[in-house]
Amino acid sequence: MSAPIRIAVTGGAGQIAYNLLFRLGNGEVFGPRQPVILQILEIPPAMEALRGVVMELEDCAQPLLHDIIISDDPAVAFKDANWAILVGGMPRGPGMERSDLIAANGPIFVAQGRALNDHAAADVRVLVVANPCNSNCLVAKANAPNIPADRWFAMTRLDENRAASQLAQRAGALVGEVSNVAIWGNHSATQFPGFEHALVKGEAAETVIGDRQWLEGEFMSTVQKRGAAIINARGKSSAASAANAALDSIRSLINPTPPGDWFSAGIPSEGNPYGIESGLIFSFPLQHNTDGSVEIVAGLPLSDYARDKIRATEAELLQEREAISDLL
Ligand code: NAD
Ligand code: LMR
Repeated sequence: MSAPIRIAVTGGAGQIAYNLLFRLGNGEVFGPRQPVILQILEIPPAMEALRGVVMELEDCAQPLLHDIIISDDPAVAFKDANWAILVGGMPRGPGMERSDLIAANGPIFVAQGRALNDHAAADVRVLVVANPCNSNCLVAKANAPNIPADRWFAMTRLDENRAASQLAQRAGALVGEVSNVAIWGNHSATQFPGFEHALVKGEAAETVIGDRQWLEGEFMSTVQKRGAAIINARGKSSAASAANAALDSIRSLINPTPPGDWFSAGIPSEGNPYGIESGLIFSFPLQHNTDGSVEIVAGLPLSDYARDKIRATEAELLQEREAISDLL
């Protein structure tokens, strides 16, 4: 057995956390020999509900779950954390865009960025889930100057999974037979689900599907607006699939990527090979190398269509950055 790692999760009484916490201590992400300590943050009005979640965690009797710490103080919840999964914040309701949450959620990440900076472990990695996740990640990063840039991730894996699933259905293939799907840009309706390099059973998805109009039309809008479709249908935003994507993200960030494939997450755009402006959290195709580093997959040819879409999502992120300039 290794020494336990400390995983901080915010928004512990919320619906995503309810689908996430129980899967962090069961070995499926960090492996069967890696004990974990959960350090869960909530706001005071939700502490009682969080105590109920803790009772359930205890009742799962997971051998790898060595301790559970709960607090309404980020300094306590982030103390020595090796991973911080920032889920806490308001979800959007029907008729809202994710960027409408900036005013409510942005300020949360000032305090949490500072607390991570001051209290987390030297090797901390941060995955921001709460929306608008790219801009919230930017706020937290800006307020944590001692945490290196390569530790910050905003979650676009749910979009990647949605895109892979749509491609598989259309191609009559299994989702496990789809690879090389990348989400570019913002976790928002302007994101570009990069279908041009996607493969189905190793062949270009575009060739297998044979319907570029569908890819540019229905496929794009289904993926871009899937979150809203779920809110309309369920009355609440995605939770189980969001938690699942958070776990997929971490798995991809700690294990080597299969050769030739990639995965998606928003990362700091500094020095990127696609000419995206610096100072954004932008989703790119990423590869985790055997030495543990995560890098952008460079040199992918992009059509004019793809370039236009990528510029549009970059423009939206620049606007969001403007709206939060006082938090940076
Ligand atoms: P929820 O309302 O069920 O839970 C959020 C929890 O966060 C609540 O319990 C609340 O008390 C807590 N919280 C609020 N402010 C906090 C703070 N300052 N510190 C700690 N906890 C705090 O919401 P949810 O459905 O779990 O969604 C959480 C967030 O995740 C939302 O912003 C949602 O839009 C976002 N989300 C992102 C993705 C993605 O793909 N990136 C997917 C789904 C949902
Ligand atoms: C999602 O993509 O399901 C989440 O970001 C929730 C939302 O507001 O769409």
